[in-house]
Amino acid sequence: MSFLWLLAHRNVLAALLCCATASKLRRVPQVEELGLLWQRCAAEGDDCACGSGHVRFGEGDRWVALQLGARSAPVSCNISSFGEDPAFNRMKECWCAVRASENLQPARVAIVMLSRHPPDLKTWIRYHLHHEGVEHIFVRAEDSPQISESVQQLSAQDQAKVTLWATPSPSLLGLSSTDSRPVDDYTTLQARQTAAMARARDACNQMGIDWLIHIDDDELLYSPQSRKIGDLLAAVPSNLAQAACKG
Ligand SMILES: *[C@@H]1O[C@H](CO)[C@@H](O)[C@H](O)[C@H]1NC(C)=O
Repeated sequence: MSFLWLLAHRNVLAALLCCATASKLRRVPQVEELGLLWQRCAAEGDDCACGSGHVRFGEGDRWVALQLGARSAPVSCNISSFGEDPAFNRMKECWCAVRASENLQPARVAIVMLSRHPPDLKTWIRYHLHHEGVEHIFVRAEDSPQISESVQQLSAQDQAKVTLWATPSPSLLGLSSTDSRPVDDYTTLQARQTAAMARARDACNQMGIDWLIHIDDDELLYSPQSRKIGDLLAAVPSNLAQAACKG
């Protein structure tokens, strides 16, 4: 008797487990990424209705994003809606940013770089200030007088966000002005980079800037999914002192 009862009971339990599992599978997948909660909204080819209007399209770690207005019409989850294919030959999906973590103030971010005959410094600076939300740029110019000309061609507002350090003149290094050897010969690139970073770090501390990023003048800071770099770094746990990005 009791044995049978146990069996019957087990079946109920099994049925309960089965239903619980089934309903769990139907739940919309969500993932929290650097302060933003994403929810899957459509398979490739379907329509995604996304209240925030912030939709990403892709797969794995390859995504492109659109910032439509809030409460805009559903977006077709396909390559033509997003203008490019972030994961060629793979089945993609759409995810909607449903909410941001609360109380996340964007982090304040600066860049430091050593520059020598940069290809297009003006565009480089404007891109980081206006598109990526970088607050200040420290440039250590290396044997490149045209760098200060480029900076002077920026708007006054942008110029105020750039600190330019020129290569010390040979006389400051105790060399005669007729000495035409490049300054590189006297200090290594790495030593100069380290010095520029230390100087920029001190300035950041005074300005209240949270993160200092070191990149080169032929590299661009790029944050996918239409997010500002300060928003991403704000979501990095505060006990971390360094973060590295994938190139
Ligand atoms: C892809 O999306 C566009 C709208 O962005 C739509 O007009 C088109 O029909 C869609 N293509 C397919 C194959 O669903």
